Amino acid sequence: MHSSRKGSDVLVIGGGIIGLVTAWRAARRGLRTALADPRPGGGAAQVAAGMLAAVTELHYGEETLLGLNLASAARYPEFEAELTEASGGLDIGYRACGTLAVALDADDRTHLRELHALQRRCGLESEWLTGRECRRLEPMLAPGVRGGLRVDGDHQVDPRRLAAALVAACERAGVLFHQTSAERLTVTGDRAAGAVLDTGEELSADQVVLAAGSHSGRLAGLPPEVVPPVRPVKGQVLRLTVPGAYAPFLTRTVRAVVRGSHVYLVPRENGELVVGATSEELGWDTTVTAGGVYELLRDAHELVPGLTELPLTETRAGLRPASPDNAPLLGPTELPGLHLATGHYRNGVLLTPLTGEVMAELLATGELPEVARAFTPRRFSPAAVREESLV
Ligand code: GLY
Repeated sequence: MHSSRKGSDVLVIGGGIIGLVTAWRAARRGLRTALADPRPGGGAAQVAAGMLAAVTELHYGEETLLGLNLASAARYPEFEAELTEASGGLDIGYRACGTLAVALDADDRTHLRELHALQRRCGLESEWLTGRECRRLEPMLAPGVRGGLRVDGDHQVDPRRLAAALVAACERAGVLFHQTSAERLTVTGDRAAGAVLDTGEELSADQVVLAAGSHSGRLAGLPPEVVPPVRPVKGQVLRLTVPGAYAPFLTRTVRAVVRGSHVYLVPRENGELVVGATSEELGWDTTVTAGGVYELLRDAHELVPGLTELPLTETRAGLRPASPDNAPLLGPTELPGLHLATGHYRNGVLLTPLTGEVMAELLATGELPEVARAFTPRRFSPAAVREESLV
């Protein structure tokens, strides 16, 4: 691999958890790595609940994505240990607590039964429980719960702690932070060569990774054929606190589809209870609305009526980076030297360990590991799309 003297081997644009994990892993592979972001560790991870929900968020037609999600979920225990060590002892709040998905009415129960059948066809572990069995596991559930799916393999992590640990691990691994935005990609000849920051500073790099979440398509200077097809999908999320006298309020993640909307309650060991999330296609809007908060509280209250007693401590909205097929874009683009790590949509926290691993392998060896090959951005290149439409 050739190297430019003044710049770095790798420049990562975007310092959310995906950019950070890529930078950390690249630096650990011995690559001189720089990262540009005005607020490293900010972004969607500051809002996300942190469910590792490969099994409970399974959807029809997403079996390939399931393989990637499961591979990343399986890496979490080792990833946690490694990151805690590399960050100087920061805890990322990984909790192997499992998940209970419940139904409140006949329609919800039909939906869950279908999910259960799909999970079984995919060889996944989940157990059907009656309403009474659900309440035995989680006594705060509403008496009206009609049944549910117990998924012992879907856990949680605290995304804010994860982001803080990744920042610390990057610093300790020698990643050079530029705390400002990358304004424009630099292209020299036929390859990506770095970026110009909004301060005017020019950074050069042998390889550039665009990992700017839902903003990835907005970087100036991207040739049209490599602009990532990502769009923002807004999620409003609430944080409540469980006072000691109420603990344990819930012992695992509890979720449901209520009137077609997903609601989930993620209890942390420190007493935080995260309630999410709306799903809204409103562009770059991150306003917390009365309607969003109302719907989340209304649906969460139907599941767990005692929730209205708890202090409401925070309301936030974030933007999921969604791609046309709901799967991430990982790997090289048609522009030599430019790679993508974006489009993780609902699975950014879940896919963090695997993303770091495959991107670092790509950056160090030029080869994208097999596990990620179905997710190459080239599936959306104009030539691939044309070929697809001819089939
Ligand atoms: N994976 C949870 C969400 O995107 O709301």
